[in-house]
Amino acid sequence: MSDLSTIRREALGAVEQAADLAALDAARVAALGKKGSVTGLMKTLGDLSPEQRREFGAQVNQLKAEIEGALEARKSALSASALAARLASEKIDVTLPVRPEAQGSLHPIGQAMDEVAAIFGEMGFTWADGPDIEDDWHNFSALNIPPDHPARQMQDTFYLPPRADGTPMVLRTHTSPVQARTMLDKGVQKMLADGGSLRIIVPGRTFRIDNDATHTPMFHQVEGLVIDRTTHMGHLKGCLVDFCRAFFEVDDLPLRFRPSYFPFTEPSAEVDIGCSWKDGELRIGAGDSWLEILGSGMVHPNVIANCGLDPAIYQGFAFGMGIDRIAMLKYGIPDLRSFFDSDLRWLRHYGFSALEWPSLTGGLGR
Ligand code: DAH
Repeated sequence: MSDLSTIRREALGAVEQAADLAALDAARVAALGKKGSVTGLMKTLGDLSPEQRREFGAQVNQLKAEIEGALEARKSALSASALAARLASEKIDVTLPVRPEAQGSLHPIGQAMDEVAAIFGEMGFTWADGPDIEDDWHNFSALNIPPDHPARQMQDTFYLPPRADGTPMVLRTHTSPVQARTMLDKGVQKMLADGGSLRIIVPGRTFRIDNDATHTPMFHQVEGLVIDRTTHMGHLKGCLVDFCRAFFEVDDLPLRFRPSYFPFTEPSAEVDIGCSWKDGELRIGAGDSWLEILGSGMVHPNVIANCGLDPAIYQGFAFGMGIDRIAMLKYGIPDLRSFFDSDLRWLRHYGFSALEWPSLTGGLGR
């Protein structure tokens, strides 16, 4: 009897004092486990007379039920306080200020493209696109570079497997094929026939097998094309002078038009801008040096004819320049390859805010 009340006191005390679920389980094992105190009492029942066994057995069973009830109650109390503690510790203060958003920035090439588009946009040019994977005809033949022409060697071309119909394919080596794609467009031809004038720029990716400090296999160009019945070399000059002065933000920037050769223009000119070098640092503007920045010319009559227009009626000019190159010159970026390293520290340094939308009248500089 006294055994029973001692065991009861100890077992219930252990349950009551269990501070967490592990301690509670230890209390359960101590009382009801295989070697537990109550289980020990059960084992003594066999030694008793049937009379005693009935009475004592009932008491032991009642004790077992009592302990099980206490275990259950303690367990829910412990879980409730664990939940309360967690809720208290994980409380969110909704009045705290939000974390600042990480600010992204525009890549200098995207920025330069936007600036180019803004300047030409104000001169009435629209933005045209074409595919990066181009067929041989648009990339070369249409532009007066036939298959056996040595000018094909001027551009180190990535050749691709021919299309299913046998058409030879390349990664476009310049943005010039979009000249042909645009002139061939039925809507454009109708607009020209109605006396309109075509003015497009084509900013985009271009590809050549080249890789050193000033050449990457993928780079960017912007093409320009004007076609109508009267546009002449004077317009070409005026347009490019205005563009270069606006882009480089030098009002009296000197330009030099140097005779050159391109298969798709006649006459052709390369354009240099004035600059000077002081202590190894480049300054764009009047000086005693020249930097070549673009190729241009009057669209060759063969190109106009290849694109389904009558060269006796239509004429115009075209130009092409490297966007990466003019971005390097304008923003003082020394290594072309850094454009494509995807280094976030570089981008934070050279990148532009998305809100700095350039315009000819609003000022382009920062
Ligand atoms: N397509 C030439 C190149 O990638 C650049 C060029 C020169 C484009 C003269 C033109 C042009 O439209 O008239 O080297």
